[in-house]
Amino acid sequence: MKKKISGAEKFDQFYEEYWKERWEPLKKALLKDRVKVYRKNKWSLYKAISDEVIEGCYQNEQIKVGLKNIKNFYFLDVASVIAARNLPVKEGMKVLDMCAAPGGKSLVLAEKMNGQGELVLNELSRTRRDRLKRVIDEYIPEEHKSFIDVRKYDGNNYGIHLKDEFDAVLLDAPCSGEEHLLHSPSELDKWNVKRTKRLSQNQYSLLCSALLTVKSGGHILYSTCSISPLENDEVIRKLLTKKEGAVEIQPIEQTYDMGESTEFGHMFLPDRCEAGPIYMCLMKKK
Ligand SMILES: C[S@@+](CC[C@H](N)C(=O)[O-])C[C@H]1O[C@@H](n2cnc3c(N)ncnc32)[C@H](O)[C@@H]1O
Repeated sequence: MKKKISGAEKFDQFYEEYWKERWEPLKKALLKDRVKVYRKNKWSLYKAISDEVIEGCYQNEQIKVGLKNIKNFYFLDVASVIAARNLPVKEGMKVLDMCAAPGGKSLVLAEKMNGQGELVLNELSRTRRDRLKRVIDEYIPEEHKSFIDVRKYDGNNYGIHLKDEFDAVLLDAPCSGEEHLLHSPSELDKWNVKRTKRLSQNQYSLLCSALLTVKSGGHILYSTCSISPLENDEVIRKLLTKKEGAVEIQPIEQTYDMGESTEFGHMFLPDRCEAGPIYMCLMKKK
């Protein structure tokens, strides 16, 4: 009789087939505690910080001790900061963060826009949206709050109802999140390949929506925290094939000498750079 394979075994087989000999060290790194940074609120007057990892991001334990709320610092993976910094946004633009909660990347965009223009933060889940609102409320100074508009729609609606609307779109798509899966044996046990296939279809659909809602000449930054090839470069390949000539892939310019290039984008993986996993790809709509 054929032995029944558990979800965890299927998971291992799938990722090992792609990552080959790198899978074991990568899996080990994913199971370790992430190294996160405190990103300083540019509007905060907090001073005297050392141990800067990249511009404005610190690993100083003193901050932790003094941390009561997120008014001065937001704690997140350094690769998330780098991803958001790579979307070319500036003051006066109309920008969409299509899947925004809890908001770590939204705050980076808000600072880059310096409170000028219009920043739409969209989030489908009500509980996550409530968290996003709390983050915005605590972090963004009163005088800049009005340029932020929190919305509650399915990201797919933007492409249908708001064509050629935004100068830039961040699509930080819902993904497999293998790091969290590995920490949850019961979830891992339910794993099968359909999970990543289904998510990649959803991601492609959201990416098509982003493409329709961004203006010609505007940028889309697609990102995930997945290590499944189906959810990263393959989503981009599908767009390049099915919507031939619609976008131009742009180089990721701010890497801070971290991470590695992929066929269409850039990736941060914790076995080599103590950050991530984060995949990102920057596109310009023609
Ligand atoms: C990877 S998380 C975003 C993380 C966020 N960008 C950050 O940096 O804090 C993806 C989010 O997309 C939301 N989401 C899932 N499906 C969506 C959809 N169809 N439209 C809008 N948001 C969606 C999820 O609830 C989740 O909060």
